Amino acid sequence: MSVEEMYETMQSKLGDVVPDVELHIKAELAYQINQLKKEKNAVILGHNYMEPALYHSIPDHVGDSLGLSRIAAQAEQDIIVFCGVRFMAETAKILNPEKTVLLPAEEAGCSLAASITAEDVRKLREQFPGVPVVTYVNTYADVKAECDICCTSSNAAAVVESLGAETVIFLPDEYLARNVAQETGKHIIFPALTGLEADTEIEAQLIGWNGRCEVHEQFTTQDIADIRAQFSDVIILAHPECSPQVVAASDFAGSTSAMIRHVEETDAPRYLLLTECAMGDNIAVANPHKEMLRLCRVRCPHMNEITLKDTLASLQKEQYSIDVPEETRVRAARAVERMIAIG
Ligand code: 13P
Ligand code: SF4
Repeated sequence: MSVEEMYETMQSKLGDVVPDVELHIKAELAYQINQLKKEKNAVILGHNYMEPALYHSIPDHVGDSLGLSRIAAQAEQDIIVFCGVRFMAETAKILNPEKTVLLPAEEAGCSLAASITAEDVRKLREQFPGVPVVTYVNTYADVKAECDICCTSSNAAAVVESLGAETVIFLPDEYLARNVAQETGKHIIFPALTGLEADTEIEAQLIGWNGRCEVHEQFTTQDIADIRAQFSDVIILAHPECSPQVVAASDFAGSTSAMIRHVEETDAPRYLLLTECAMGDNIAVANPHKEMLRLCRVRCPHMNEITLKDTLASLQKEQYSIDVPEETRVRAARAVERMIAIG
């Protein structure tokens, strides 16, 4: 595809959401990235939160954390460029260690991944001996290495139930844990918040941590009430990293890909997405006859670090290469592969 053809393709999809002058610049960058991608035998994975011009031009695969982990595990190209955040690129490296895995922006982190350390998990294990540990994939490799099994937002309840254990440690997202507790009918406690002693008899069946997604914690039931007051026919979709009150007041909760599917498979005139704002643009482009309402004050600063310009530099300079110490990787891989095996 020439630069002109790239511009035409992007213009036909994104003409309503991206200014024309920006489209010309981005089409040129996308063209160069796609050329280099072929030359270097690379594959580009794009999370659903990528900005619309990137999302609709360079990824070979788009999806949620679980879907992209599966694809990363089977990628045959020499280089995997992960347009997402660090924990996602790390998961790709954990599952496919022979490949070079590149993250285009070194500083693309995540407030959930930053909320817990491997030492925190070891202390919880000492406090609750014999209790299995589930960690959300939004954690770093050394934390994954300390756990029994990982989960994502699309399989969290299934993973907890697969353990068949009465008590489970579920880390680090407080709200996802509360939502899973509701879904699985388990009680929940937060020892880090309440200072539960090691010898306290465990009354609860899910033991949580106080991590939060800095994006999803901002949505409130007032936001929902305001939108419903204006649009009585709106369908409201929330990510399970939102509070249980917000999830309960919504019509649907699911992973980023599950939300996309729900919009595609239902037939309402308008939807409100309680998640990263760029995803609303991406769904709007794919569903031009449905109106996507968005609360665009809420952006993920980490996902927004990933730009077309940085992705081009990433491929040119082969930066920023993800490394995970082998001993950590092997232990983390066990937890991620156990999750993938559940399906
Ligand atoms: P998904 O697993 O639903 O793609 O979500 C990842 C994420 O970071 C949500 O904030
Ligand atoms: Fe992390 Fe929240 Fe950003 Fe997702 S949206 S990457 S959970 S900070």
